[in-house]
Amino acid sequence: MECVIETESLLKVYGDLAAVKGVSVKVRKGDIYGVIGKNGAGKTSLLKLILGLTFPTSGGIKLFGSEDLSAERKRIGSLIEEPALYNGVSAFENMKRFSYLSPTDDEEINRLLEFVGLGNVGKKPVKALSLGMKQRLHLHFLLLWNPVQNFLNDFLL
Ligand SMILES: Nc1ncnc2c1ncn2[C@@H]1O[C@H](COP(=O)(O)OP(=O)(O)O)[C@@H](O)[C@H]1O
Ligand SMILES: [Mg+2]
Repeated sequence: MECVIETESLLKVYGDLAAVKGVSVKVRKGDIYGVIGKNGAGKTSLLKLILGLTFPTSGGIKLFGSEDLSAERKRIGSLIEEPALYNGVSAFENMKRFSYLSPTDDEEINRLLEFVGLGNVGKKPVKALSLGMKQRLHLHFLLLWNPVQNFLNDFLL
C-alpha cells in the first residue's frame, strides 16, 4: 500500500531542546492518522516539518513516495490550530477572497459552504462564528484549493 507520508528518524532541535525526537511514521493512502501527546510533546512541530513550515535538524521525509517535497506539498491542504481568516467579513466573502487560489464561481462557493455545514452562516461576519465553525470554513478554503477535493473524488465519490 502506498505511503502518503513517511518520516525516518525525524529530529527537530530548537536551541538545546529536542522538540521532535527521532520520529519514524508511515501513513498509508486512505488512512486517518491521529497524533496524541501531552502539551509540548512535539505534535505541532512534527506537522510543521511535514508541511515545510520548518526544516528538520536531521532525518528524512517522503511525501507520496517522493523526496521532491516542494512539488508534492502542492497536493496537501493543511490547518494548524487557528485558521487565518478575514474576521470582519462573511464566510462567503472570505471564500471569494481565497478563490484566487482556484477560480471558483459563486454557486460553487455556496455548494461548498453547504458541504462543510456552513450553508446558514455564509452571510455572518467570521468574528461571530465559533472556533469550530471557523475551522470548518478553513476546511472549505482547502476544498477550494483542490487537494482535499481530489482526495474526496478518489476515495469517497
Ligand atoms: N519555534 C520554536 N522555538 C523554540 N522552541 C519551540 C518552538 N516551537 C516549539 N518549541 C518547543 O518545542 C516543544 C514542542 O512544541 P509543540 O510541537 O508545539 O508541542 P505540541 O504541539 O505537542 O503541544 C515545546 O517545548 C515548545 O516550547
Ligand atoms: Mg500543538
